[in-house]
Amino acid sequence: MAQDDVFKKLVAHCKEYGYVFPSSEIYDGLSAVYDYGQYGVELKNNIKKYWWDSMVLLNDNIVGLDSAIFMHPTIWKASGHVDAFNDPLIDNKDSKKRYRADVLIEEHLAKLEDKITKEVEKARERFADTFDEKKFRETNPRVLANQVKIDELNARFAKALNDTDLAEIKQIIIDNEIVCPISGTRNWTDVRQFNLMFSTEMGSTAEGANKIYLRPETAQGIFVNFLNVQKTGRMKIPFGIAQIGKAFRNEIVARQFIFRMREFEQMEMQFFVQPGSELEWFKKWKETRMNWHQALGFGSENYRFHDHVKLAHYANAATDIEYKFPFGFKEVEGIHSRTDYDLKQHQEFSGKKMQYFDPEKGESYVPFVIETSIGVDRMFLQIVSAAYTEEELKKEDGTTDIRVVLRLPSFLAPVKLAVMPLVKKDGLPAIAEKIVNDLRFDFNCQYDDKDSIGRRYRRQDAIGTPFCITIDHQTPEDNTVTIRYRDSMAQERVTIGQLRDIIKEKVSLQSLLKKL
Ligand code: GAP
Repeated sequence: MAQDDVFKKLVAHCKEYGYVFPSSEIYDGLSAVYDYGQYGVELKNNIKKYWWDSMVLLNDNIVGLDSAIFMHPTIWKASGHVDAFNDPLIDNKDSKKRYRADVLIEEHLAKLEDKITKEVEKARERFADTFDEKKFRETNPRVLANQVKIDELNARFAKALNDTDLAEIKQIIIDNEIVCPISGTRNWTDVRQFNLMFSTEMGSTAEGANKIYLRPETAQGIFVNFLNVQKTGRMKIPFGIAQIGKAFRNEIVARQFIFRMREFEQMEMQFFVQPGSELEWFKKWKETRMNWHQALGFGSENYRFHDHVKLAHYANAATDIEYKFPFGFKEVEGIHSRTDYDLKQHQEFSGKKMQYFDPEKGESYVPFVIETSIGVDRMFLQIVSAAYTEEELKKEDGTTDIRVVLRLPSFLAPVKLAVMPLVKKDGLPAIAEKIVNDLRFDFNCQYDDKDSIGRRYRRQDAIGTPFCITIDHQTPEDNTVTIRYRDSMAQERVTIGQLRDIIKEKVSLQSLLKKL
């Protein structure tokens, strides 16, 4: 199936099964804003717990924070967001559509990469076992020609971005004959900068209202509380502050479902270190965060680092952890060595010292900072993309059937077990209800007695429920039930008394955290 189709199905599935709804749907929706349904909110909470516990529970020197969304407007002047949190925009005069100029160029680069991949795959089929990919890439003239184009374009693009040379960015679009996907023409406006922060007013106009911003990242709430936490928590460097919270960006190219939203949630951790040690910590956090992703078991080949060519104004090293989404490798998390930029800026703009007294060195300094920053929503999309599976099953009459399964890691699954009486009589529903009432204190359980047992299994597969417990006519006789495993569809007979332990072992967050 084409990857575009897989993605469309995934979006439809998220809506049909109560994971994600378009916001304000009865009013035709609000672009790039989404609501999480009954299962979505559970998955989201589980993702947040996995992140929070891996930071705050597992590390003595990392503590949490929940700072306000509204902050003093000077914070955004100090952080550079008022002046530099911009996207380069370009409009197509025929379709009247607006694009991010850098995204148009990146998509063009991805098409060139695709051409190479297709050549390689064709050759692999032709030469089968004798195929030497490295040699092919180094000698095939078409691959080489495209690689030269990619390298030249990358270098030119990086320079234009670094110099914030908007005229050159437009020239790159023209020289590479990039067309508008809607009108198909190259009738472009000039490129201009657009600030991504939402603003509103605090206080009534009569009192003299103040323009304030909806935070575009949660990180600044951590920086301005750095000394509050350090002093009250008697924290010693190196230490970290972790925070989960909403962020807002007036994204121009808001596409790909919950990948790029205007209101989203971030999980950010700022790790304060001695100046000079930051690149060592940067390396350590790169590894730690990659392990956190890969522990979910979606295949290490689906992740990669993408080191930044253009560094943000505050960074001296930066990388993204990318995942192979149905629409290609894309960023899920950013890891940045933010130097002492933010704390120094706040020191200057607030006039308050942002220094740490290091008892071991006997001196005060402004610490350097390593940041790990991941979007909850993007992580959610990564997980459902990886978990969504369509399986072809052979039926007894020889025909085939498609089973849709969300192969979510058990700890993340919104519902851990569904308890189902085979029939709605003979005392079976009462036994099922008793099991649910007993296990609901340990796990999120669902009682399900509607439709045939086969349809109920399918419904739970589609939600991603790892265990289905069926109560049949043998249950009242010997207190046993069948437990059906979502991924293998295998069934086994166990006693009711064994259920808690069997399920606990498989859905525990602990075993996941112990892998880190
Ligand atoms: N404090 C650093 C920072 O905000 P970023 O790379 O702009 O860095 C960090 O964002 C993460 O937040 C991204 O890797 C992504 O997961 C998420 N994110 C950023 N913009 C987003 C958006 N518009 N919609 C959903 N998630 C977004």
